[in-house]
Amino acid sequence: MAESLVSALDEYEQAALSAIAESASTDDLEAVRIEYLGKKKGRLRDLQSLVGKASPEERPVFGKRFNDVKSKVTAALESRLESLAQPAEVLSAVDITLPGNDVKLGRKHPLTQTAQEFKDIMGRFGFTVVDGPEVEDEHHNFVALNIPPEHPARDPLDNFYLATAEHNFAGESGPVLLRSQTSTVQIRVMEQTQPPIRIVSLGRVYRPDTIDATHSCMFHQMEGLMVGDGVTMAQLKTVLHLFAKAYLGHEVEIRFRPSFFPFTEPSVEVDMYWDGTWMEIGGAGMVDPNVLTAVGYAPDKVTGFAFGLGVERFCMKRHEINDIRRFYENDVRFLQQF
Ligand code: DAH
Repeated sequence: MAESLVSALDEYEQAALSAIAESASTDDLEAVRIEYLGKKKGRLRDLQSLVGKASPEERPVFGKRFNDVKSKVTAALESRLESLAQPAEVLSAVDITLPGNDVKLGRKHPLTQTAQEFKDIMGRFGFTVVDGPEVEDEHHNFVALNIPPEHPARDPLDNFYLATAEHNFAGESGPVLLRSQTSTVQIRVMEQTQPPIRIVSLGRVYRPDTIDATHSCMFHQMEGLMVGDGVTMAQLKTVLHLFAKAYLGHEVEIRFRPSFFPFTEPSVEVDMYWDGTWMEIGGAGMVDPNVLTAVGYAPDKVTGFAFGLGVERFCMKRHEINDIRRFYENDVRFLQQF
């Protein structure tokens, strides 16, 4: 009897302490308390009645052991309760019920958002996004694009020529300039890749225009190029139509007007009808055989179309922005509306 009471107390103590340590919530802990310390029918009560049955000589010894175990388990339970009720120490230092400071989150510039959306749309049509340098040589900005030396587009007054550099990107010496169009990227891609090609390139272009509500000396274009076996102008129109619809989500129409660009033949100006008006969105056409030859393609084997669209225009149209200068002023009141 004496032996078994001692081991029952030991066993009880061990079981209770580990149950307390393992309980993961105050609810768990309450269940443990009822089982081990409950007054009505807990395990401790059973032990207590055993102590009561011990002989008068043994009773004080068992009684003391009983009381020790009880207070040890009770203390463990209380300290566990304290830590469960207050999980993280920081919480006692920070009053989480106080209102926080107003955190001002930044956001992407509207043109960055527009460019991202353009890339997403064109990506769904199977066009890969490529980049090109903003400082260009004459070969990529003009020569390979079939723009002859006497062409007005090469006029120093219409371009940001930089001081004649010792080296340009092709490793040859010659003048460099801030690119005046993203069509340069067509050449860079075709020089390095064989058809079929389907790419778009978005980025800044620079022209010394007088700045007003619709002109800026720096703006953004999206260039597109598709070259392959039997690529047609009908496909060009379809791609532009689907693109415009995907971006504006309305009954958009696309119209071609005959035009001229040295690097396309035939060439067109592209207009878009949206919200009751026609507006010009860029230029396009079938890649000129001279351009295909300049990059080493066989113009009798492959054809291609190309287009260049103004990014600002689309964004302005969609958000009813009436002055292109707003994009570049960094006025937070403007920017935070997008
Ligand atoms: N690069 C022309 C410009 O900046 C736009 C353009 C026209 C791009 C026709 C093209 C194209 O790819 O085929 O005015």
